[in-house]
Amino acid sequence: MIKTIGVLTSGGDAPGMNAAIRAVVRAGCELGMKVYAIKRGYNGLMEDDMYEMNLRSVSDIINRGGTILYSARSSRFKTEEGMQDAINTCKKRGIEGLVVIGGDGSFRGARDLSLRGIPCVAIPGTIDNDIGCCDYTIGYDTSMNTIMQMVDRIRDTAESHDRCAVVEVMGRGAGYLALTSGIACGATSTLIPEVPFDFERDVIDRMKRTQKSGKVHFVIIVSEAIGGVEEMAKRIQAETGVETRATILGHVQRGGSPTAKDRIVASQMGYHAVQLLKDGIGNRVVAMQKEKILDIDIFEALNMKNEIDLNMYKMSLDISI
Ligand code: F6P
Repeated sequence: MIKTIGVLTSGGDAPGMNAAIRAVVRAGCELGMKVYAIKRGYNGLMEDDMYEMNLRSVSDIINRGGTILYSARSSRFKTEEGMQDAINTCKKRGIEGLVVIGGDGSFRGARDLSLRGIPCVAIPGTIDNDIGCCDYTIGYDTSMNTIMQMVDRIRDTAESHDRCAVVEVMGRGAGYLALTSGIACGATSTLIPEVPFDFERDVIDRMKRTQKSGKVHFVIIVSEAIGGVEEMAKRIQAETGVETRATILGHVQRGGSPTAKDRIVASQMGYHAVQLLKDGIGNRVVAMQKEKILDIDIFEALNMKNEIDLNMYKMSLDISI
């Protein structure tokens, strides 16, 4: 059985990462493992910046946003030299397995380390929900709920002034956060990168149609991959006569106490990762598929494509008019 493991968080932080760290540490300690907390993602591995954890090191973190391990996106780790430093640290500390919590960029690092003999298990942690092999990534639910709450507030003021609110939401290159928060917020139009759009047809004409049925205030959700909300707001105002304001929600979407769903999924995934590593099984991604927690070969996982649910998109259009 593997005796010493490390855990790190890499890439953009996501609410629920702490719950996953807690599960890894507790499950590892219960199995009698030595568990190292590696700081600032792969940087901590290259620079040997880590400390040993015990059962109490992860007390009172399940409810906290961010990551107690800190996070980073490391370009040096992508070089052969950086990779070698990381392997040397593992050898020096006796680390026989790693849990990597992050997005697909972090998974590529885990794959490369696995190829060089350090078994890694990756856990999907990103608000973007953009990982091909997983129906769900840790942080998505919290972020979606934050967006919903923020847009509800924007709606209050848009309603009071008969305005249109154009709101840009995160998601990197993926439209999941925009699509589902658009549904949750009852947006008149939602623009996502996966579905080509015609601004005149999909925003202006839709607004005009709803105006005819008596609608006087509007919410338009735009994925950050499309952007340009300030220009959109000007165009909407000019073409519909509705006073319009643009908001870029920004990093408020990434912080905050994780929802129950994120805490539960993160706990399940962290626990699952340790059960794999204890038997020396690495090169795996822990994933949620059809509400079940399972694991997939990391190479396969990286080749899987994330498809947006087009029926869901159509439904969102049909009921938001
Ligand atoms: O991947 C998470 C995410 O928040 C994306 O939605 C966004 O595009 C990006 O990270 C922002 O990154 P940064 O915090 O480096 O600006």
